[in-house]
Amino acid sequence: MVFLCSSEKDLTTNTADFKVVAAIDIGSTSSWYASSKTDTFKTDPLDIRIDKSWMVGRSSYFPTKTATCILMKGDGSFKSLGHEAQEEYADIILNDEAKHYLFFDKFKMALYNNENISKEMMIKDVKGREKKAVDVFSLFIVELMKLVMKNYQEFEFNDIQWVLTVPSVWSDKAKEFMRHCAERIGVRGYRLIIALEPDAVSVYFQYLHTLKPTVVPKLDRRYMVVDIGGGTVDITAHEKTDDGDLIELCKSTGNDVGGSEVDYQFLALFRQIVNDRVMNTLLTDDRYIDSYFDILREIEKCKRNILASDNNKLHFRIPFSNLDTLCRDYNNKSLSETIASSKYSEKISLKGEHMSFLRSILLSLFAPVGDRISKEIRKVIEKDLQINMILLAGGLSKSPLIVKNIEDSFKGMKIIKLPEEYPADLAVVTGAVLYGHRPHFITSRITEYTYGRLMQPEFETEKHDPAKLITINGIDHCKDVFEILVPKNTRVNVNKKIRKEYKGMHKSQKEIRIAVYTTKKNQVDYVDDPECKLFCEVLVPLSESADKTRCVIVDFIFGKTEFLVEAFEKKTKLQYNVSVELK
Ligand SMILES: Nc1ncnc2c1ncn2[C@@H]1O[C@H](COP(=O)(O)OP(=O)(O)OP(=O)(O)O)[C@@H](O)[C@H]1O
Ligand SMILES: [Mg+2]
Repeated sequence: MVFLCSSEKDLTTNTADFKVVAAIDIGSTSSWYASSKTDTFKTDPLDIRIDKSWMVGRSSYFPTKTATCILMKGDGSFKSLGHEAQEEYADIILNDEAKHYLFFDKFKMALYNNENISKEMMIKDVKGREKKAVDVFSLFIVELMKLVMKNYQEFEFNDIQWVLTVPSVWSDKAKEFMRHCAERIGVRGYRLIIALEPDAVSVYFQYLHTLKPTVVPKLDRRYMVVDIGGGTVDITAHEKTDDGDLIELCKSTGNDVGGSEVDYQFLALFRQIVNDRVMNTLLTDDRYIDSYFDILREIEKCKRNILASDNNKLHFRIPFSNLDTLCRDYNNKSLSETIASSKYSEKISLKGEHMSFLRSILLSLFAPVGDRISKEIRKVIEKDLQINMILLAGGLSKSPLIVKNIEDSFKGMKIIKLPEEYPADLAVVTGAVLYGHRPHFITSRITEYTYGRLMQPEFETEKHDPAKLITINGIDHCKDVFEILVPKNTRVNVNKKIRKEYKGMHKSQKEIRIAVYTTKKNQVDYVDDPECKLFCEVLVPLSESADKTRCVIVDFIFGKTEFLVEAFEKKTKLQYNVSVELK
């Protein structure tokens, strides 16, 4: 049993009637799940079940999550996922059976900064073969759900509250896409919560500092959360209110920089040593797939152990025989001669199956990545939110080099990272379980855009542009008017309803269509302003009514992780099944 002080009394109350909350975190590089029973949450919120991800057979580190990749049979059915899929696929290639399989690797990044996300969108596997993105994501999610369910055989699928995490910088369309994937598997409506990754981290830190004060020191009232993962850095800023709730202080920001960027730096170094053609062949030619995976695994190991000893030289295991062959083919030199003639001849040597690097060379690979992360953090600091504390999470925050870069860039600020026993790359998924039990922890969010609806009010000569005049049924109207629903940079409470009334035109009117626009500006007059974009079309299907001029109440709901619309008939309170099509 956990005892809580009065200001924290609400930490163990939850309102849902679910038996279990399970969260799935699909990361750019690695993914995993976590869960806890509602009963357990009430007595010990931090007693969260995290299965051990299976060991990576051919490598020598023990990941906390599994790789974000999936192997499918040619008919699209499931073969394996994660590290197991990587190893199976390497064997498949060596057995020349690749044409019978599809292998999707690091597929989450397909949704990052993509303007064309749709249910029909295709993504390519490593060989360029296409498959619907929803099929790939849904299969991956459902297979992780099956692993969750194995732990709860006494419960039904419907007893579980599912939480899917997404980067806070993802577009609404990307979030809608994830919801659609879950719906295809049968997780509908309120049974799925879309949680923002840095929000989950913030909630995790709140629980930790309350329940394990020796693990995480007292948190400032205001702080920034920086989740540095494999593909993205995702930043948000929160304040804890006197009521013990969390409110968002600024819109989340971030960029596509993370641990994978360090990998690219390593690979770029290899390119400089052995040349592009050798590396391209190694990375793309099936005969060398095993060597390619070996290099990636060695990079992973090196990233983790780079400061483990203070030896001036670091030994990097390489696929010697293949690299040597390719160097002889393309450079007319052995690998050893290639290194000797490179600009690194003084700093790198070959010792059997290992390349020995001067440590300073490898250390320098982290600097550009740390700098880019610090640049993103600085953008939030410049907002002058009186923040003096940065909470770090995500796999790359385990790198002392990256942490040092952040500490050096923000001297005087308190930089808090998780101790080793609380793996930083599991902070998102663990926090998402807590958030799923208590989604009302975060009570307000900041709007990123100005939201408005398209209107055609009666024409007012002194107010409207004459070019916008149209006449409907003999009455002058102004077309294309942008009527603000919520201005940008506004703090809105979660579930904030902006209520509008729509009048029916005739008895058999079948629907009301509403166009919602967004702009990065504070205000635009008309929706055809170049900086205004159609955000979504809302369709309210109407049933036959005896009332010709029935009044329909439409609630535009803000402050949640997703934009929602509800509608009902004012007189009868009849709820309509609204659909929102994001553009
Ligand atoms: N001890 C460590 N030292 C350095 N880097 C590490 C360490 N542990 C993990 N990483 C790196 O962290 C990254 C993965 O972090 P994480 O699992 O948080 O990312 P993700 O969730 O897959 O990605 P994202 O959150 O960007 O979608 C990888 O690039 C990995 O190499
Ligand atoms: Mg992550």
